Amino acid sequence: MADEPLVLGIETSCDETGVGIVRGHTLLADAIASSVDEHARYGGVVPEVASRAHLEAMIPTVQRALRQAGVSARDLDGIAVTAGPGLAGALLVGVSAAKAYAYALGKPLYGVNHLASHICVDQLEHGPLPEPTMALLVSGGHSSLLLAPDITGDVRPLGATIDDAAGEAFDKVARVLGLGFPGGPAIDRYAREGDAAAIAFPRGLTGGRDPRYDFSFSGLKTAVARWVEARRRDGQEVPVADVAASFQEAVVDVLTRKAIRACKDNGVDHLMIGGGVAANSRLRSLALERCADAGIRLRVPRPGLCTDNGAMVAALGAEMVARGRPASTLDLPADSSLPVTEVSVPGFTHGDGSGPVRAALEVQAHLHPQADSPADAHAPARSHDPARSHDPAHSHDHDHVHELSKDNLYG
Ligand code: KG4
Ligand code: ZN
Repeated sequence: MADEPLVLGIETSCDETGVGIVRGHTLLADAIASSVDEHARYGGVVPEVASRAHLEAMIPTVQRALRQAGVSARDLDGIAVTAGPGLAGALLVGVSAAKAYAYALGKPLYGVNHLASHICVDQLEHGPLPEPTMALLVSGGHSSLLLAPDITGDVRPLGATIDDAAGEAFDKVARVLGLGFPGGPAIDRYAREGDAAAIAFPRGLTGGRDPRYDFSFSGLKTAVARWVEARRRDGQEVPVADVAASFQEAVVDVLTRKAIRACKDNGVDHLMIGGGVAANSRLRSLALERCADAGIRLRVPRPGLCTDNGAMVAALGAEMVARGRPASTLDLPADSSLPVTEVSVPGFTHGDGSGPVRAALEVQAHLHPQADSPADAHAPARSHDPARSHDPAHSHDHDHVHELSKDNLYG
């Protein structure tokens, strides 16, 4: 056990500042600071608020994790961090902190994929993942079916949502029902008192000619909203528990059906379910039932490890160290749309040596999304240019930013 890698993982892709410490497959610490309450009044995560909260929570959360684990930062074998996908500003806080710790402590840095981490976390609860593993990842930001022949290097997307993520649908339906944010836990609670067969809501993309592994929840969300509106228009009371149960059943019916189909088609006898929606009690019970019928072993981490946390990042980092995977360089970028096929991010200076130039261009592209010629890239940043501060195009940018912050991830 003592010779297994001791890794600290940092997660800041959304609204949880998570710092976890693991040794091999053993969880030693899982410290979380959430800004969820600060977002509740907006009905969704506001990126700027999340970034600022990460910044404030980062150092205390790292210190809390080290205390919980009873280890010294000097003993660590590596620092792992979520490099993407997620909210750009939020990811940057975690990546910058991880680089600072790695540099100051002289430890290798591992930039890893958030989705692969959601899969790998199950090793902390149920031991080594069989390979290949089939994973159903369902959260507020993603809904995917992934085949993972090698969790540290080969993760293949089979299907994903074509519109809303499953958790997003829970959040939006909860808003329609006036249940607050985040909506998943509230719907789960109400649904226990309701009749799942009360209302026949649509099952998206389940026709014979529809994509086998993709999901769609936007039509379902609209169907629920229309049903509720019609009741209210007629002056009738809305049976919240029945709506919650019937909606939830439509989501978990499709999720489990497609996940089991993916296992059977690919000859995989293990299914792992992760992401925030994996905390859903009906998803767990229906998946268990259907997996048992199909001879598939189900692995679902406990709810606290399903939602975003730092332990999952540490778990993947430790697996990378154990398998001798290369570390990232200190110019590791945060990539808000990192594809799931990129389980880890090497950093710019890996490879042909042109990295620093590409890193500089990437930063420029971020500051000047409209600048596509090298000449434009040398122009001063607009926000620092007083001459432009009253320019209508400039203020329009501000409005846009403001709108984006309200019409956020879940909006
Ligand atoms: O993985 P996560 O913490 O963050 C993201 O990466 O999105 O997932 C959060 C999502 C939210 O949409 C929340 O409503 C949903 O997971 N969720 C649930 C439950 N608990 C959390 N959805 C359904 N049932 C639950 N019990
Ligand atoms: Zn997540």
